Amino acid sequence: MHIHPSTIAAACLSLLPLASSFYPYNPIYTDVPTRRSPDRSLHRVSRPLDPRGHSYSLPIRRTPTKRTNKYNIITATPPTQSNSIAVDQDGTDFSYMVAVTFGTSSEEYHMLVDSAASNTWVMGSNCTTDACKEHNTFGKGDSTSLIISDTTFSIAYGTGQVSGNLATDTFHIAGFNLPLTFGLANNVSNDFGSYPMDGILGLGRGDSTSNTIAAPSLMDVLSSKSLIKSKLFGIHLSRTSSGVNDGELDFGAPNLGRYDGALNYIPTISNTDGFWEIAADDAGVDGKKLGLTSRSAIIDTGTSFILMPNDDAVALHKLIPGFTQGGETFTVPCSSTQVVQLVLGGVTYNVSAADYIGHSLGGGACASNIIGRQTFGPTQWLVGDVFLKNVYTVFDFDSSRLGFGVKGQVNTASATTLTAVPFSTTPLVSGSSTILSKSSPPTGTTAPTPASQQLPGASASPTHSVAAAGCASSGAMLALSMAFFIPAIFL
Ligand SMILES: *[C@@H]1O[C@H](CO)[C@@H](O)[C@H](O)[C@H]1NC(C)=O
Ligand SMILES: *[C@@H]1O[C@H](CO)[C@@H](O)[C@H](O)[C@H]1NC(C)=O
Ligand SMILES: *[C@@H]1O[C@H](CO)[C@@H](O)[C@H](O)[C@H]1NC(C)=O
Repeated sequence: MHIHPSTIAAACLSLLPLASSFYPYNPIYTDVPTRRSPDRSLHRVSRPLDPRGHSYSLPIRRTPTKRTNKYNIITATPPTQSNSIAVDQDGTDFSYMVAVTFGTSSEEYHMLVDSAASNTWVMGSNCTTDACKEHNTFGKGDSTSLIISDTTFSIAYGTGQVSGNLATDTFHIAGFNLPLTFGLANNVSNDFGSYPMDGILGLGRGDSTSNTIAAPSLMDVLSSKSLIKSKLFGIHLSRTSSGVNDGELDFGAPNLGRYDGALNYIPTISNTDGFWEIAADDAGVDGKKLGLTSRSAIIDTGTSFILMPNDDAVALHKLIPGFTQGGETFTVPCSSTQVVQLVLGGVTYNVSAADYIGHSLGGGACASNIIGRQTFGPTQWLVGDVFLKNVYTVFDFDSSRLGFGVKGQVNTASATTLTAVPFSTTPLVSGSSTILSKSSPPTGTTAPTPASQQLPGASASPTHSVAAAGCASSGAMLALSMAFFIPAIFL
């Protein structure tokens, strides 16, 4: 029931160049004349800090920059746990980044946190492409300890590419100072001009022999130098509409305060892509499950959305009254309150309406942040930030497992055994009809806020005019084209 790596590789070849998965999926909606055209790709970075009308006073990090940097970066509260770093974001929940420094430089660089790739690179001061002109770049003039090697690297993404030289310098992150070899990019394609990050921090499972950047990764170095107790990291992603900017990346130990009970550990499926991939038991809405089997989920902090092959995405949206489909994208009523659910490791995880309901398209319709696209194999889902905002996730390299924890949702196993020892014997795939009922009784702390309170388009009109279920006529309402942009996965 596992997907054999060669199957994945074959699928990848047909969709994306191998060795790249910065998967910035960028759906573009072309509306009908009566509808106001939503912003195109750049809305992600040019949108106001508060897209939903609340008043926040979150500071924008001030960094010394050599170039005018137009990007909004919303700084997260510094974590209290040691070996942890704040996870900043762009104010739209699309890009999550950490601020690092290199060598003797005090300039901060924002690196996209990418759990689907192991390559780390930063834009180099030698780079003159438009994307680099708009970002903070790093080079000899910034750090006297920087060593640039003659070895080159090149990473191809869906629509873009990055190339340059390998370089070594001290890497400063989360209080650690360690030697790291990374890519210093001297040619960055324009695709990256639409995203706020200056580079990418690779936290995938790939080893240094299979990485495009053939050097020990950050996690490898932290582990080999015994700077962390366990080779793992935990991550909490903030949700802008919650008004709390508390994203956090924890190295070496999970933050126990981020979840109740024990983590639900799920073994990873081995693959040659460095993916954090686990069996997915099922999906559903409000307790109604789809009955899907033999699916897997690639858990990717570098992907904004949830992408699943068309049939799965259609089946899921059919449980949300009033949805429409246009090609790979869907709309849902902005006033939807249904909770989408993914069943992983025998536990049902909610994806709140606040997270799967995207920007307003007018007329009471909002973009769905669940996309009908096969990114890799036909049974693989690419599960990004839309899901991850709902859980605390631990990526455990040593034990080859992923752990999920939720505030207010205690795992059955931990609740019955009253022990902090996680269980890891969860069946990889379960088609049991009892799966959805395994979720613990709610305790209320993670109940989703009704979308109508958060999205401008939701207003007070529960009866919008978007055609329901059939989908057949929806293409007339939303003609859709897509651009592959890529910031969503980086392999
Ligand atoms: C600068 O970029 C050029 C290619 O554009 C490359 O040949 C050269 O090695 C780079 N220099 C450094 C210091 O990265
Ligand atoms: C950057 O890479 C692209 C694609 O490989 C290439 O066409 C272009 O000439 C390169 N630009 C520079 C300045 O090296
Ligand atoms: C998950 O969503 C359901 C509604 O479908 C709700 O009853 C339940 O309380 C939620 N669970 C948690 C932990 O929030």
